Amino acid sequence: MKILVTGGAGYIGSHTCVELLNAGYEVVIVDNLYNASKKAVDRIKEITGKNLTFYEEDILNAPKMNEIFAKEKVDCVIHFAGLKAVGESVSKPLEYYQNNISGTLVLCDAMRKNGCKNIIFSSSATVYGEPAFVPITEECPKGTPTNPYGWTKHMIEQILTDFHTADNDWNVILLRYFNPIGAHKSGLIGEDPKGIPNNLLPYVAQVAIGKLQCLGVFGDDYDTPDGTGVRDYIHVVDLATGHVKAIDKIKENPGVKIYNLGTGNGYSVLDVVKAFEKACGHAIPYEIKERRPGDIATCYSDASLAKKELGWEAQYGIDEMCADSWRWQTMNPDGYND
Ligand code: NAD
Ligand code: UFG
Repeated sequence: MKILVTGGAGYIGSHTCVELLNAGYEVVIVDNLYNASKKAVDRIKEITGKNLTFYEEDILNAPKMNEIFAKEKVDCVIHFAGLKAVGESVSKPLEYYQNNISGTLVLCDAMRKNGCKNIIFSSSATVYGEPAFVPITEECPKGTPTNPYGWTKHMIEQILTDFHTADNDWNVILLRYFNPIGAHKSGLIGEDPKGIPNNLLPYVAQVAIGKLQCLGVFGDDYDTPDGTGVRDYIHVVDLATGHVKAIDKIKENPGVKIYNLGTGNGYSVLDVVKAFEKACGHAIPYEIKERRPGDIATCYSDASLAKKELGWEAQYGIDEMCADSWRWQTMNPDGYND
């Protein structure tokens, strides 16, 4: 089976390509390298010892997308390509809607024209907004996103669902990720944020290696055990294997399916700091700051549906996530460095 992976040179995409190749799938990546490096593609090949096809292309380029689908005869698409910085999306809504929504429409049109109607989409726990209950099951109602990035996930879920309603040949799996962290055990691929990281783990890793001075902890007065925000951190390799399981599911022509991909465990910011200190062997300086606008207190999954229907569950705990992040950080202090 041939899988086309949009955004396959990115953080989650590159790890997923490794697991796809290891599982014997043929892989075609389409990535415009807006937030990724060509080196990630080379390293996927190095880790797996297998080849893949790489197109440095924008999914908004309709003629090119048609050409690629006509040539490659793809069985299924895993759609990671998109812009993902929550704060930036507030100041650049047009860019976010255009890239994420229009990009998805162009992609799906090329798929349809070429008879490929199987898509697995990278959604996010952000669609639950302030969750109605925790742990969050897939039955939890979607909330109101607080930023354009969140709205793109919310809307694309609806768009893909509507495709299936209109044409039952479409199979759509919406994977709602919780908080992916960590890196491949080889230390060859990992998260390489441009500029100062927005997310907790890359920030902590850069403090640990001395590139940044001190972690700001955004609020210690939430209604959580230690007052700091609680999240469901999931190892990126576990997330990647979740996609391989989703391909098994899509072969059954399941229609529209939604799965949470999380561990079911919540850890606070200070829990993560402690786990990272264990991994790197020294203290991580931090100071308590104001709450970050738009943040919620607690967000963790009930991941039992994915276990039941996909036969998937996360294998790695928080200590391994931090150890693997640290290995990536120490082996690549400047990321892919290009
Ligand atoms: P990433 O930025 O590392 O990967 C996205 C990739 O898409 C990049 O390689 C980028 O170059 C590419 N891309 C962007 N626009 C493109 C376009 N128009 N054409 C071709 N390629 C394009 O991000 P990631 O963390 O790997 O996230 C992958 C997906 O998962 C995204 O859709 C993101 O919104 C979603 N997601 C991420 C998280 C997270 O915390 N990392 C959480 C939930 C959902
Ligand atoms: N945090 C800090 N200091 C920092 C960064 C984060 O204290 O420098 C805290 C946040 O307040 C939050 C926790 O660490 O309590 C996690 O924050 P992240 O920014 O790492 O992650 P979020 O849960 O805010 O958001 C992430 C992704 C979104 C996605 C969401 C749900 O960035 O794209 O998970 O999946 F939508």
